[in-house]
Amino acid sequence: MTQQALSLPANQFTLTINGTTTRIKNLAPTMTLLAYLRQSGYVGTKEGCGDGDCGACTVAIAGKDSHGHPQYQAVNSCLVPIGAVAGRAVITAEGIANGQLHPVQAAMVEMAGSQCGYCTPGFIMSMFAAYYDGSLSDDICIEGNLCRCTGYVPIRKAAQLLAEAVPDDHFSAELVHRASDLSAIAYTGNEQQFYRPTELSEALQLLQQYPEATLVTGATDLGLEMSWHRRTYPVLISLEGIAALKQISQTDDYVEIGAAVPLSHIEDLLHGIFPSLDEMLHWFAARQVRNRATLGGNIGTASPIGDLPPVLLALDATVKLISINGDRNLPLVNFFKGYRQTELKQGEIIYSVTIPKKITSGANQRLSQSYKIGKRGTDDISIVAAAFVIDVDAEQRILHARLAYGGVAATPIRAIAVEEMLIGQPWNMTTVRSIKSALYEVFTPLSDLRGSANYRKMLIGNLFEKFFVEYSS
Ligand SMILES: Cc1cc2nc3c(=O)[nH]c(=O)nc-3n(C[C@H](O)[C@H](O)[C@H](O)COP(=O)(O)OP(=O)(O)OC[C@H]3O[C@@H](n4cnc5c(N)ncnc54)[C@H](O)[C@@H]3O)c2cc1C
Ligand code: FES
Ligand code: FES
Repeated sequence: MTQQALSLPANQFTLTINGTTTRIKNLAPTMTLLAYLRQSGYVGTKEGCGDGDCGACTVAIAGKDSHGHPQYQAVNSCLVPIGAVAGRAVITAEGIANGQLHPVQAAMVEMAGSQCGYCTPGFIMSMFAAYYDGSLSDDICIEGNLCRCTGYVPIRKAAQLLAEAVPDDHFSAELVHRASDLSAIAYTGNEQQFYRPTELSEALQLLQQYPEATLVTGATDLGLEMSWHRRTYPVLISLEGIAALKQISQTDDYVEIGAAVPLSHIEDLLHGIFPSLDEMLHWFAARQVRNRATLGGNIGTASPIGDLPPVLLALDATVKLISINGDRNLPLVNFFKGYRQTELKQGEIIYSVTIPKKITSGANQRLSQSYKIGKRGTDDISIVAAAFVIDVDAEQRILHARLAYGGVAATPIRAIAVEEMLIGQPWNMTTVRSIKSALYEVFTPLSDLRGSANYRKMLIGNLFEKFFVEYSS
């Protein structure tokens, strides 16, 4: 993209739906993909909740997996701004039969996986994506889909029936041609501008040009504003096309994760390195959300109930911020300034997050885990999230302690005073019990619909005790 193209947005772009390329003209880039599909006659894609929770609107985008291989990605179309699929290929439930039912559809029929059918296209599309990436054997591919009538047994049986099948129909071959890289886009429609640069320097220049612009990456957070609140944005700068923000690199000492890497890629590529990160990603939303959500977005929202900040705080992560004037590294503990406030200055973006790897020597041992308490297992927001790291020596004396929480203060936060009290103490139940009373005093959480202040206070101490019970030798 040239600087001229950046400053002269076009009023149209193309989008391929079920193999047919259409021209999108003068539409607001914040219109959701779901709304566009339904008004264009693709009414097989259903609207249930409109906020990413039910999966009725699931469609597949022909994209790339964490290794760069072509892949269908299941996404919630109610959270995808239409600008974000400019130049891309989308498959809906109407597009997968090819003269005969697609194997996923046939399996649902055979197992009687549908009654009223409202949820069915969403389940079909989640299973369609999983059919091609080999992830049908567990329930994770359909954890983001709700069914109100059938009960899950027939649906799970349909998934299991397909799990052993070798995908050989025409979609496997077509995927290679359909899978699109995210090309540069400069678009204006309905008095809103949408930019998707592919170079970091272009994004930083755009931020100079439009200081009030809003950054967007996966839009799983901002998409709610567009879907539910019909909020408009005069200028949106999408970071999801910038390769530099989508790298994961690692050495013996650390892992650096680009701010725009989708969480499902982090799950795939870093599994087994940080147990507390694996655990929290497992409980983070559902597959469709993790296919788009990013670390940059999770930190960028500065939500006090974001799930990954406690994990990253406990692991002593640092965040790299970059602007046209250069970059700077901040310990994450210094990044959150207040409720929804961060150290990010105008013109800066989150570039990456660096996590040091476990460095223990001799008989020293690192214990580390995270916990999420919500109203239900998957696809729910935390009441309290916690992450702990304790290093002990051969005599089980505490050398290093990190206790980090979400949902207990205006920001994700560490219990620094308590961490200091733990140093030198024996790692045993007496220490944990004595520390629990100190923990109750450190934070003054609020009551809300999800949980009372008192319940949250109890969780602060009890989760630490749970950690001890699970990780004491
Ligand atoms: C159904 C559903 C379930 C969810 N479940 C969870 C959950 O279990 N746990 C949880 O923590 N969250 C959850 N979320 C919230 C959301 O998915 C996460 O916060 C996600 O990480 C946001 O990433 P994103 O890329 O989609 O951010 P976006 O929506 O694109 O952006 C979010 C904010 O971050 C800013 N931003 C984005 N990237 C950058 C960057 N590189 N630099 C600076 N600022 C940036 C944007 O300007 C915006 O203010 C859920 C959301 C939905 C809809
Ligand atoms: S309509 Fe429920 S997830 Fe989109
Ligand atoms: S069959 Fe009715 S919601 Fe699933």
